[in-house]
Amino acid sequence: MKQIIQDLKREQPKMRENDSSKEQKKLPGDIWKILNATSDCPYHMCDGSGIIFMQNRETLETKAKYCKCKEQLIYSQRLQFANIPSEFSSLTVNSFDTQIYKTQADRETAKTAKIMTANYIKSFEKFREKAKGLYYYSSTRGSGKTRLAVSLGNALLKVRHMQVKFITTLDLLKEIRNTYNKNTQYTESQLIESINSVQVLIVDDIGVEQPTNWVNEMLFSIFDTRMKYNKITIFTSNCSIENLQHDERLKSRIFKMAIPVKMPEEDVRKGQSKRDNEELQNILLRGE
Ligand SMILES: Nc1ncnc2c1ncn2[C@@H]1O[C@H](COP(=O)(O)OP(=O)(O)OP(=O)(O)O)[C@@H](O)[C@H]1O
Ligand SMILES: [Mg+2]
Ligand SMILES: [Zn+2]
Repeated sequence: MKQIIQDLKREQPKMRENDSSKEQKKLPGDIWKILNATSDCPYHMCDGSGIIFMQNRETLETKAKYCKCKEQLIYSQRLQFANIPSEFSSLTVNSFDTQIYKTQADRETAKTAKIMTANYIKSFEKFREKAKGLYYYSSTRGSGKTRLAVSLGNALLKVRHMQVKFITTLDLLKEIRNTYNKNTQYTESQLIESINSVQVLIVDDIGVEQPTNWVNEMLFSIFDTRMKYNKITIFTSNCSIENLQHDERLKSRIFKMAIPVKMPEEDVRKGQSKRDNEELQNILLRGE
């Protein structure tokens, strides 16, 4: 068993380099017999656990390797953990439509926001080194802030292999408050530690909460710790950072940890709902 764990430890860096397919091809199938291949693995190489156990036909030595399906397993676990709202989970930055907005000014704003997001993904390592996130804001509801922030999260998860978590500010505060109840699963510090350990945290709709002393303290402590440990925080808000009602100390922390990205001032949600309704209305009228 000890040997197996050591083998796995040696294998781990290769997995990170996305090298698992090469690893698979190198398996000398003649000498090494796979002991646990079942149809639970999409490649029929392991038993669905992501680990291939093998035995040398000549020496009877055993060893373990990560299976190709392990990456898919990690990816689907990360996706589940990310908690991205289902309507946004498959959206990309590329498919963010800058032509959907009616005015030229809004189309330009959307285009700049889209380019900034794409460049952020491209040069992610630079931003990561400085622990800089993005702050998407516009005072109009339904203008695409969450849509673009989540598309960024999807890309960091898929392309940059980051651990991502999406949470609204209200839910974040609610979850912390819930830890004060008796019989809860986690303590406040355990929950905060888990929030702080996430590589990329998307904090949706900051500014809608009442900025009480407790809220200011709590958010400051979370963001400050995240920045100290080089974790990235992405924000969406209906307010520019300057106009947030939180205390100055918190605002200056947010200024330090995120680059503002202006979003259009147009509600595309309304138009979308109208189109959806018209389509459904046609189905009702035509009976199709
Ligand atoms: N540029 C876009 N292209 C296509 N669909 C869009 C675009 N922007 C927004 N949408 C769609 O419009 C709806 C509203 O967008 P979203 O939820 O991102 O708005 P928001 O700015 O976060 O609103 P709120 O301030 O209420 O949180 C979503 O269904 C989203 O998919
Ligand atoms: Mg939103
Ligand atoms: Zn497998």
